[in-house]
Amino acid sequence: MKITKDTRVLVLTGAGISAESGLKTFRDAGGLWENHRVEDVATPEAFRKAPAMVWKFYKERWQQALQTKPNPGHLALAKLEDWLQDNFYLITQNVDGLHTAAGNKRVIEMHGSLNTCLCTRCSHHFPIKDINLEEDIPLCPKCKGMLRPDIVWFGEIPYHLDKIDALLHNCDVFMMIGTSGVVYPAAGFVMTASYFGAHTIAVNLNPMENGDFIDEFHQGKAGEILPQLIDGWINSAEK
Ligand code: OAD
Repeated sequence: MKITKDTRVLVLTGAGISAESGLKTFRDAGGLWENHRVEDVATPEAFRKAPAMVWKFYKERWQQALQTKPNPGHLALAKLEDWLQDNFYLITQNVDGLHTAAGNKRVIEMHGSLNTCLCTRCSHHFPIKDINLEEDIPLCPKCKGMLRPDIVWFGEIPYHLDKIDALLHNCDVFMMIGTSGVVYPAAGFVMTASYFGAHTIAVNLNPMENGDFIDEFHQGKAGEILPQLIDGWINSAEK
């Protein structure tokens, strides 16, 4: 399919796009997230039982994300947005902030962000850099309620699903990059986009669980494939 400046491209990314920046993916590490079982750190139940431990884990993840930089895969997507402008949107399951750091502006962080936290009482969001992280369980500067990491945990509803649904119904190309395709609802987006007529593209190190709806599969590292693919689109459209 020929991609031009008028093609509406919707991208979904997962942990695989940040792997080349040095962040471990979830399922490649045997279901463990930095040596923790997901249910011990990424569920509302875990936070209710052990808030200080869960906070410690996310403070470490934030510190770790601060040390990382966007890789050529992120930068290629920033170039694609620069070219397509309003015809581009990016949905990410990642919480590391690397797409924004690369220069992408139209970004939906459907699983939240390490860069913000959320008050469990008044629901205000705060930049994490403004919070006193010396406290084991930081308190809300407005209402003194307990703050929590602004991460969508298992069993919670992802952010911005209405906007995502509208984008899925109105894209010409849907691209899925570095995601295993096992965590819903994100894993079902390719099916919706395909039913609504989009051409679907996947970039992944390995074949995917939800491969039935993929029209074009590029196997390999996102940081190697995306720059070539995207430069190819831009060059052939501008000839
Ligand atoms: P996964 O760890 O499940 O999948 C990462 C995918 O990236 C795998 O399919 C790998 O083969 C692929 N991959 C690894 N390195 C790559 C590279 N350099 N280039 C391209 N692909 C590569 O991560 P997600 O699909 O993002 O949820 O996981 C989805 C959600 O489950 C996460 O957002 C998280 C998790 O538990 C929450 O935290 C709520």
